[in-house]
Amino acid sequence: MSKPSEQASRISSINNQTLTELLGQMTLDEKIAQLLQLAVPFYEGAEGDGLITGPMESLGISEETVRNSGSVLGMAGAAETINVQRVHLQNNRLGIPLLMMADIVHGFKTIFPVPLAIGCSWDLELAEQSAVIAAKEASVSGVHVTYAPMVDLVRDPRWGRVMESTGEDPYLNSEFGRAFVRGFQGTDLANDMDRVAACVKHFAAYGAAEGGRDYNTVDMSERQLREFYLPAYKAALDEGCEMVMTSFNTVDGIPATGNSNLMRKLLREEWGFDGILISDWGAVKELIAHGIAADESEAAQKAIQAGVDIEMMTSCYAKHLSELVENKEVDVALIDEAVMRILTLKQKLGLFDNPYRAADPEREKEIVFCDAHREAARELAVKSCVLLKNEDVLPLKRNGKIALIGPFAQSGDLLGPWSWTGSKEDVVQLADAMKSKLNSSAELVVAAGCDFETATEAQWVEALAAAEAADVIVLALGEHSDMSGEAGSRANIQLPEVQLELIRKLEELGKPIAVVLFNGRPLDLHGVYDKVDAILEAWFPGSEGGLAVADLLFGDANPSGRLTMSFPFSVGQIPVYYNAFNTGRPQGAPDAQVKYVSQYLDIPNEPLYPFGYGLSYSLFDYSEAQISSDIMTADQSIKIAVKLTNKGEVAGEETVQLYVRDISGEVVRPLKELKDFRKITLQPGESCEVEFELSESQLRYYHSDLKHYSDAGAFVAYVGPNSKVNTELPFKLTK
Ligand code: BGC
Repeated sequence: MSKPSEQASRISSINNQTLTELLGQMTLDEKIAQLLQLAVPFYEGAEGDGLITGPMESLGISEETVRNSGSVLGMAGAAETINVQRVHLQNNRLGIPLLMMADIVHGFKTIFPVPLAIGCSWDLELAEQSAVIAAKEASVSGVHVTYAPMVDLVRDPRWGRVMESTGEDPYLNSEFGRAFVRGFQGTDLANDMDRVAACVKHFAAYGAAEGGRDYNTVDMSERQLREFYLPAYKAALDEGCEMVMTSFNTVDGIPATGNSNLMRKLLREEWGFDGILISDWGAVKELIAHGIAADESEAAQKAIQAGVDIEMMTSCYAKHLSELVENKEVDVALIDEAVMRILTLKQKLGLFDNPYRAADPEREKEIVFCDAHREAARELAVKSCVLLKNEDVLPLKRNGKIALIGPFAQSGDLLGPWSWTGSKEDVVQLADAMKSKLNSSAELVVAAGCDFETATEAQWVEALAAAEAADVIVLALGEHSDMSGEAGSRANIQLPEVQLELIRKLEELGKPIAVVLFNGRPLDLHGVYDKVDAILEAWFPGSEGGLAVADLLFGDANPSGRLTMSFPFSVGQIPVYYNAFNTGRPQGAPDAQVKYVSQYLDIPNEPLYPFGYGLSYSLFDYSEAQISSDIMTADQSIKIAVKLTNKGEVAGEETVQLYVRDISGEVVRPLKELKDFRKITLQPGESCEVEFELSESQLRYYHSDLKHYSDAGAFVAYVGPNSKVNTELPFKLTK
């Protein structure tokens, strides 16, 4: 067996040829094999000899096809990836290296908060930094491409995958999408070995699955698609994102993976995307179940014609493309084009020069989960938590007796979905983190109270005893990580009944209760917000989440997160989101006597906690906002300013938000749209002037002809702490 260095020199001879020449040397079968991507079980890793061992028969393909495949899914670890690459190169006639792709979604070994939580930080720099660190750890472990960022716009918290997105706003999702791409890729993938290529997903509109049920139908007008759902994918591509992944859903009646209108026309022709388009897991073959292909051959034909380059985890291409070419049903040029894109990314990543790239078992030990990375994860976790309610309970005092109760008190399940490379054993648990904060006169009593969905009598008894003896109760509740994420849709998005029961039992004691929530979606908080004194939404905060939460609970840090997805009042309102349209009727409060208004008879229209909302231990005061002119022209922007003062007793960070409403559009316009924001840190008593500049380009939208431009006419701007701000600053756009 040759050593990595010998292999590398064999490969560099290929580097002197152009990729086109390389393509010219490939047989049709070798080309088609490049388009196949299989997961780790097909390869024997570091323990073995790196050979292919997986269940090829189940896919109906030969070992030779797998040997010639172009990429691997879900492999990580320097020793393992080096081994697999080395054996692959020995067996590959032309010595074309494998691309190692994996889901590094919110951290590699150092796990950051889930993306929805990162969104709530409104902190683009820290978001970028989290991707820089994830890329560095992944890269040294042999990963070349991450399947991130996921930028699907989400409005339905029943959908378990909302935790992978940064929320319900197209502008914010675009900014985060860009930040993640910058962090993962840097600016020079060929030379910056600490970066990985990014793959934006899931194209397109996966977040709009009907009923919030995963994989379900998506159907919407093209105008809606372009206005709300597409901008974040486009932003990621504008930032240079190398790859795109298809979504599982239909778009206008055609599953995305076989949708030429979406992929060929829009993504490739209109947007000019020339990178690799990969199917989602099994999505090519799923064209059959969707009902647009009779068999695997037709599925392969539709997907390649739609522009899908790599087929993930099924073998429609491997089994049928050759015959489809022979029968002239697929133009071989489509296959050449797909292979060229794959070879081009390999070249861009420097794999022809060094197929092992940054993989290095020694350096891996130094870098992965190092202290500096963990510190960054803690900082971002602190910024991601959202204080939803606080009636004189938080921050906690460091003396006296605290009862910490709940299934998350001593749980390592703080990483959340899509953290397969992380380890629950590394997580700093909340109880340990809280203990480290107490002084000698204080006591922390810990009891589970219940498991996630069940409880024993002994658990109740223990919890009640702990609570009775305490001055204050901290309840660590939520959803375990399998209750969200892929295939984690829920129709009832309240806390599991047993946890609500725990709250009811403890409430009877009449002691102050602060709830910390760990979960992957906005919840229906009935049975929580109406029964407890404080709620801190911690999401799945990652490896250092326990410490971050303890920092916030004891006031060593001040909560600054702001929701980027509305918390519904009840599941019956869903979808409920801030940038909705008005109706022709007044929006009512529940009142059965008032007929013919747009209301529910039983619940308010408003969400429980709106987009942009979050409390702080500081008290921020907004002076009356000023607008520099009530006329904006195409080349003359306007300025909007507000004086912000911290009237509280501790330093804190506020997120000042700028919204706009277009009063009279050609098509109806949202009641508010986020246009800009600033994060401002103020000491107690300190003030500062926060100024925004608003220009014509920010007022553009998709008209009924699908063209993107602004309308002259009346607008209203709003500056404030969340999307409920209602002080109007009218202005006009003249053209
Ligand atoms: C998910 C993708 C993921 C892929 C590979 C799919 O099931 O939808 O988000 O990237 O698996 O793991």
